[in-house]
Amino acid sequence: MKRYFLTVVFIAAAVTAHGGLETAGGGYAPAGEAASFFSDARTQNRVDSLLALMTLDEKIGQMVLYTSHFTVTGPTLAKNVEQAIRNGTCGNIFNAHVPEYNRNLQRIAVEETRMGIPLLFGYDVVHGMETIFPINLGMSCSWDMEGIANSARVAAREAIASGVNWTFSPMVDITRDPRWGRVSEGSGEDPYLGSLIAAAMVRGYQGDDLSADSTILACVKHFAAYGAAQAGRDYHTVDISERTLREVYLPPYKAAVDAGVGTVMTSFNDIDGVPATASDFLFEQVLRREWGFNGFVVTDYTALSELIPHGVAADSLHAAELAVYAGINMDMEGDIYHKHLRTLVDHGRITHQQIDRLCGEVLKIKFGMGLFDDPFRYLDTEAHKAEFYKPANIAAARDMARKSFVLLENGKGTLPLEDGKKIALIGPFADSRRDMLGSWSGQGKADKVTSILDGFRRRFGSGNVVYAAGCPPSGDDRSGFAEAVAAAQEADVAVITVGLPGQWSGEATSLTSITIPRIQQELVRAVRETGKEVVLLIVTGRPLDLSWEAENSDAMMVVWYPGTEAGAAVADVVSGDFAPVGKLTMTFPRSLGQLPIHYDMKNTGRPYTPGQGEQHYVSRYFDTPTNRPLYPFGYGLSYTTFGYSDMEVLTPSVGMGTPVRVAATVTNTGDRPGEETVQLYVRDDVASVTRPVRMLKGFAKQMLAPGQSARVEFIIAPGDLEFYRRDMSWGNEPGGFTVWIGGDSDAELSGKFEIR
Ligand code: BGC
Repeated sequence: MKRYFLTVVFIAAAVTAHGGLETAGGGYAPAGEAASFFSDARTQNRVDSLLALMTLDEKIGQMVLYTSHFTVTGPTLAKNVEQAIRNGTCGNIFNAHVPEYNRNLQRIAVEETRMGIPLLFGYDVVHGMETIFPINLGMSCSWDMEGIANSARVAAREAIASGVNWTFSPMVDITRDPRWGRVSEGSGEDPYLGSLIAAAMVRGYQGDDLSADSTILACVKHFAAYGAAQAGRDYHTVDISERTLREVYLPPYKAAVDAGVGTVMTSFNDIDGVPATASDFLFEQVLRREWGFNGFVVTDYTALSELIPHGVAADSLHAAELAVYAGINMDMEGDIYHKHLRTLVDHGRITHQQIDRLCGEVLKIKFGMGLFDDPFRYLDTEAHKAEFYKPANIAAARDMARKSFVLLENGKGTLPLEDGKKIALIGPFADSRRDMLGSWSGQGKADKVTSILDGFRRRFGSGNVVYAAGCPPSGDDRSGFAEAVAAAQEADVAVITVGLPGQWSGEATSLTSITIPRIQQELVRAVRETGKEVVLLIVTGRPLDLSWEAENSDAMMVVWYPGTEAGAAVADVVSGDFAPVGKLTMTFPRSLGQLPIHYDMKNTGRPYTPGQGEQHYVSRYFDTPTNRPLYPFGYGLSYTTFGYSDMEVLTPSVGMGTPVRVAATVTNTGDRPGEETVQLYVRDDVASVTRPVRMLKGFAKQMLAPGQSARVEFIIAPGDLEFYRRDMSWGNEPGGFTVWIGGDSDAELSGKFEIR
């Protein structure tokens, strides 16, 4: 076999999640490095001049956000939006997404009010507006930063074509509990990868010119640590140490701030006893003083009134007061600021200066977006109409979908399917369009979706595809089993779509079970009894316990909710036209009882070491043989195989502040071309505080022909090894480190280095 050799050097891009934070003597210095579109003196002068002309009620009007008649998440509280706009008491709208409608509201705001201040139009454009990309958890499995940024760019342009100029995205909550339905909206469990994705999405939405008519304002959410809800129950308590908060949960928000995000949304949860929406620690200390954020903060939906059931506000007047002191600029849908800010000022509980500051930060963003120069710049309906579903958007959605799929099992080489084979396409999701969109799917239309059945018929030919649904996603209706079995008997191979309906993921969809509903397992068993090879396509918005499925199939691939181009993308990969590249960004456990489980856990004082015989008093479960998950973080197969060799630490001992260089060779050991995501993990062997057993610190994509090898070199910057030391100061410590290079977080090839 012909052998090629490549050498590539990758810099383990330092994620400056904590950058600039100086904690000498316990004092916090502002990071001062946040990219900014909004802090120039001219804009500030314009803001100040405007504030000087505004009444108190007009200022308060800029600090509220009401849903229009299009609600998606809850009741519409403000009935007469138009009148409120006309009065100058409503400066911002969300969920309005019809350009003509929005244009009329904007006209009222600029022509019929005293001050003529333009409106923001917000919307949850989370993984696409009309052309829907895979759910965000799926996109994260591509590890493709440019592709992810491009998905945001496409979404921004389609949002503008809908009259929207502000998206409530990216959602960057670190997610480590698959019971939580909102794991589908995030980028998984890892702070390093999550930070890169957060920055990529902000760049995609906002570009480098927020006032350009192809970019929209982004809103990073939900600040903070919403993903750490106890037991994965939505809106539940978060009680984590400040160290965990800062090291694990905060980095992606910080990365979004550094990328210049203009707005931040509060989270529903409390942290350490303080609801986020009333937390001056989060918004004044961390976000503004430490990170230098200079945009504005909006609450989550009615989060202000929720301060009452949380038990920190006696009534809504008190809730408004707490939020002002926490530095919250805008009340989403709560009617709390609208009703109470004037009273608080009149009673001297808050000052005019506080209102001016909070209102001024909103106005600054409106200036930064160029809305005062041209309030209709995002409302040019004709110019943008061509944007919806245009071929480049569809192509981008298809490409991202196929890159998001993760091949979990393929022991017999069942995939890819050979041309000419007769395929039984079975299961409740094979002919579903709605489920392919997942949650928060903007204005994505089910009738625009290519179902998996459509995709298979197109790619393999209608005559080669026999379809049978078999059963509904849940319940007891087994009447379709016989047809499914007959389809399999007629075919060479059975491809079965199993998993969870799209509506079982997203907000308020926490689950106590993470297995595939029993009726679908029974369907798989019935089809398997035909003796035909079985490929499972797992449709899901969260990691599942697939232990049973792994035992009862020949190949298995997670396809998430793939979006508008679902069928085309699935057919691309199943046929082998495109070889799978996805790598998991959330651990798939063996059982519910293992939760929470993530790759970067601590070692404990009594670690369990596999393969060392009977071990009793060690940190493990008594009733299960291993601590290992079913599929670890970073895992994903290709149609070829990759081998790793010749690990070398090029700089085994370096002084503090000097980069470390490590290299290994990756070889395509199979007989098909394939792309591997080479991953770099590091462990700080001895530190003043316990450190994770491994931490992702870099990755590199490498396309290799059969037999081809590449030497991959990583440079680990000193900043990559910094952490919160014993005294909560941020920095490096000398000592020994272990480093691994490989294809997932179980990588075995390792080396050692020392920092002096
Ligand atoms: C969600 C947010 C969303 C908001 C507006 C809330 O229920 O938590 O993520 O942006 O609604 O739709």
